[in-house]
Amino acid sequence: MDSKQVVFITGSSTGFGRLFTETLARKGHTVFATMRDPGGRNAKNAGEIRALAEKESLPVHVLEMDVTDDASVERAVDAAVGKAGRIDVAINNAGYYLSGLEEAVTTEQAQRLMDTNFIGPVRVNRAVLPHMRRQRSGVLIHVSSGAGRVVIPSAGFYCASKFALEALAEAYSYELGGQGIESVILQPGQYETPVFGNTVRGADEARASTYGAAKEIPAKINGALSSTAGNAQEVADEVLRIIETPAGEKQLRYFIGPQDFGVNEINALSKRVQTSVLEAFGLADDTKFRKGKAVAGAV
Ligand SMILES: NC(=O)c1ccc[n+]([C@@H]2O[C@H](COP(=O)([O-])OP(=O)(O)OC[C@H]3O[C@@H](n4cnc5c(N)ncnc54)[C@H](OP(=O)(O)O)[C@@H]3O)[C@@H](O)[C@H]2O)c1
Repeated sequence: MDSKQVVFITGSSTGFGRLFTETLARKGHTVFATMRDPGGRNAKNAGEIRALAEKESLPVHVLEMDVTDDASVERAVDAAVGKAGRIDVAINNAGYYLSGLEEAVTTEQAQRLMDTNFIGPVRVNRAVLPHMRRQRSGVLIHVSSGAGRVVIPSAGFYCASKFALEALAEAYSYELGGQGIESVILQPGQYETPVFGNTVRGADEARASTYGAAKEIPAKINGALSSTAGNAQEVADEVLRIIETPAGEKQLRYFIGPQDFGVNEINALSKRVQTSVLEAFGLADDTKFRKGKAVAGAV
């Protein structure tokens, strides 16, 4: 594979996705920066990315994509493959934070969160994998969170969405490694991005109002996270290191953050436990990464 890669990023309008776009393109990687509504609500963000690309001659293409819409995801992936002929790396980054006592979160809010943070990557992976399997190479990066490993009160639904994403991404890594495709999980701690301003609050305030002292938990957590947030460029630099790590040498999980809250310890224990799980099912060998070995009949 050429060392310059074709990278497809979700949620590129702001925050990490925007920084990934700029950081990777400045290193010569071709970036498809996807976002919702680049002609309307995100016109300013899309315009700034295009202007930067023009000024610095960067290989960046802005595409419309909403991760909650199957047709929109398929259109964007088709457009990227039509233009570049391949997708080497798909970064599942789009997502948002939902804060509130769990009983104050409505079922509609819970469904919407899962549809974005969890089913969104399902849609993207299903759209890009036929191309990666044909190429016999590729990398799926899943932007989880430290909260994909530890549980924070008032973030139960957010944690659930990231725990779900971690399980899926790990299962993908076992199933795809033999075909030369890596599935990677990135677990950022708290970083300064618009995420805090974009946080959705549990809508059923009447429920929360009866919680006594516990109703202050969301504000306490959000205050602590935003006041200790790190510089988001660190996360973009980590993504660059990951995609430039040779095929087959990437880790399954990368934690990065100002405080690890024990996430690295859980990752290390989980790695040992999962190794025994795979051995118990006689799958240790079948789930190993193998360069360029596609299963016969791959699409
Ligand atoms: N910042 C942190 O401390 C932190 C820590 C751990 C994990 N994360 C994760 O990092 C990812 C990026 O967040 P961020 O911190 O960079 O915050 P952000 O600036 O709010 O970025 C979120 C991005 O997701 C996009 N998005 C939301 N719903 C979407 C949808 N249905 N379809 C397409 N795009 C959608 C947003 O697009 P619009 O402009 O259209 O809304 C925006 O581009 C998220 O998955 C978040 O959970 C963040």
